[in-house]
Amino acid sequence: MRTQHLLAIAAVAKEAHSFSARAVAELQRHAVLSTRSTQLLGDLVGDSNLTAAGQSISNILVGTDTAVGNTDVYTPPDVQDSQKCRDDECCKWSYAVKMFEQTYSGCNDLARQAIRLGFHDAAAWNLTQPNGGADGSVVLNDEEAARFENKGLADIIKQMQQWHDQMSKFGVGMADLIQMSAMAATVICPGGPRIKAFVGREDHDDLPPEGLIPSPFSDAQTNIALFEAKTFAATDLVALVGAHTVSQQSFVDPSKAGEAQDTTNTVWDVAFYGETASPNTPPNVFKFPSDLSLSNSSETSATWQAFGADQNGWNMVCFPRVFISPARHRVTFHFTDLMPSPIFPPLF
Ligand code: HEM
Ligand SMILES: *[C@@H]1O[C@H](CO)[C@@H](O)[C@H](O)[C@H]1NC(C)=O
Ligand SMILES: *[C@@H]1O[C@H](CO)[C@@H](O)[C@H](O)[C@H]1NC(C)=O
Ligand SMILES: *[C@@H]1O[C@H](CO)[C@@H](O)[C@H](O)[C@H]1NC(C)=O
Repeated sequence: MRTQHLLAIAAVAKEAHSFSARAVAELQRHAVLSTRSTQLLGDLVGDSNLTAAGQSISNILVGTDTAVGNTDVYTPPDVQDSQKCRDDECCKWSYAVKMFEQTYSGCNDLARQAIRLGFHDAAAWNLTQPNGGADGSVVLNDEEAARFENKGLADIIKQMQQWHDQMSKFGVGMADLIQMSAMAATVICPGGPRIKAFVGREDHDDLPPEGLIPSPFSDAQTNIALFEAKTFAATDLVALVGAHTVSQQSFVDPSKAGEAQDTTNTVWDVAFYGETASPNTPPNVFKFPSDLSLSNSSETSATWQAFGADQNGWNMVCFPRVFISPARHRVTFHFTDLMPSPIFPPLF
């Protein structure tokens, strides 16, 4: 009787303990999420007559809605060239997603390049630039594509040109193709979040100024300032570089070409954070000086630790601002059709 009683108390205590551990974890996540950027950008600023898609993007950016998509499934009609499919944004894009799915299977080299390409197209912009951003220019402008910072992206750039040649007659633009492919690659990499998807970006081939893409040799303060000028807070930056969970380098140190940034580089997990911060980083994991600096600078080290222990919290911050953002300043959010995440086939 007495033993039973004690066992019951022990069970309650254990429950209470795990409850309080969960509560503490929730509080910690909340504290981290509350330091995200909530800044609006582009034509969203001061627009009181947003379309449904514009309103949805706005809600995500200010943090009143989540960017993480639902699990609905879209089943396209089995026609590719028909008017019916042409008239349906989701139908057209479901074919694109099928191509992505085949090409990025296994979170392979092209999948990793696709994620990085989405970043490099969107990031070639800051608040003082009237144009640029996710406008397709990283593929459409040969001079931009050939820049040193875009080394390692040649294969995916060629692939994008091919897809664009095939699909532009259906109204599939380069800027959307790049961001949609990056989002698809992220989901295809096991563990990657399924993010709400939008189409309607305008394509442009203007060459952006130099200096907008971060250097792996910059310290935390430099990269925080660089990203602040793009409306990203330090917390957003720490979340974003977590994309190096599926990264391999060839041009930071060519003598170590092929070395990854964590031990699980075909999985979208948080091992990258811990392994970067650890004094005992596993052999053959190559740390970028920029990542090391973010992991140990006073402004970002706590956030670094927090994401390293909270995959879901990390997924919530990670992508919205890059992949959802349209070509800033160019778009009037006639995102006619908000493309809901359900376009992804059941596999996801
Ligand atoms: C401070 C910010 C960042 C710096 C300095 C940086 C720098 C780099 C460098 C130097 C590489 C290796 C290129 C090579 O040698 O082949 C790389 C790879 C990569 N980066 Fe970043 N990056 C940053 C942020 C991001 C962000 C925000 C994303 C995505 C949202 C991203 C995604 C990737 C991916 C997926 C790869 C792997 C490419 C591959 O394996 O082919 N990076 N990054
Ligand atoms: C709001 O936008 C819609 C369509 O974009 C337009 O028809 C309507 O006139 C606009 N209303 C105002 C008050 O600007
Ligand atoms: C924005 O980018 C331009 C071009 O690289 C640069 O000259 C300018 O200083 C940047 N603005 C800010 C606020 O960082
Ligand atoms: C912190 O990061 C810098 C790179 O920016 C590196 O030189 C330094 O050794 C790191 N400190 C520790 C304790 O890891």
